[in-house]
Amino acid sequence: MIDRFFSQTRPKQGEDAETIKLGRIPSHIAIIMDGNGRWAKKKGLPRVAGHREGMKVINRVVEKADEIGVKYLTLYAFSTENWKRPKTEVDFLMKLPERFLGNELPKLQKNNVKVRVMGDKNLLPSHTSRAVDKAVEETKHNTGIVLNFALNYGSRHELMQAVRTLCEEVEAGKRSALDIDENVLSERLLSSGLPDPDLLIRTSGEIRLSNFMLWQLAYSEFWFTDVLWPDFGEDDLMEAVHIYQTRKRRYGGV
Ligand code: IPE
Ligand code: IPE
Ligand code: MG
Repeated sequence: MIDRFFSQTRPKQGEDAETIKLGRIPSHIAIIMDGNGRWAKKKGLPRVAGHREGMKVINRVVEKADEIGVKYLTLYAFSTENWKRPKTEVDFLMKLPERFLGNELPKLQKNNVKVRVMGDKNLLPSHTSRAVDKAVEETKHNTGIVLNFALNYGSRHELMQAVRTLCEEVEAGKRSALDIDENVLSERLLSSGLPDPDLLIRTSGEIRLSNFMLWQLAYSEFWFTDVLWPDFGEDDLMEAVHIYQTRKRRYGGV
């Protein structure tokens, strides 16, 4: 049963981007980039070396996703629970957006990538929020793939905030509780404006959501792999999309 969502099958020979492009392409892919620490440990390196290596994977994945026609790519970069990690690791993780965007922004621009960020920005160090604000601002008119970073993101916090905002609007007499429907709530989430992910990928063999997009993933297809994030490559992405193309999405119908 497990291989229904945890597939180790490699795409058949020739199942390359061109073949994949003939099939149904997920409009929105969300990825829980996990396993950086274990990757480093396996190599006898400090955990942060895994984060540095993991950062390098992002560009390749964005370019491949773009090539096959994916419109939105959401990457879970830091959760609201990741603050529990040792301060040195958190400090390192908070420097990664600057490093990544410092190096890659010109290329993202050239590729017409639109950067977005979802998460609670208030708790980010100012150097981190400055770097992401700059990238969002400078790419806001781009019309290509949307690269959405979940940074200090937690789904329960997001839902709680949305409920709180709606309650305030009701209290202030701006809306009636009765007109709160699924669309109204969706619009109050940090993912507002993005379609729900069609495909969720999690690396490193963990089979859980870790507080990621609980509302938005209600009808997404899930694909898990043992591959650790720093080892994730274009072929793994193609495998995930290939498996996605074999799934029958029913949304409760027949
Ligand atoms: C994912 O890798 C990156 C973040 C959560 C920031 P981990 O750091 O969780 O790696 P493991 O799970 O310890 O191997
Ligand atoms: C989820 O990974 C968060 C990110 C990938 C950013 P974690 O490594 O934090 O998840 P748990 O702790 O194993 O559930
Ligand atoms: Mg982890």
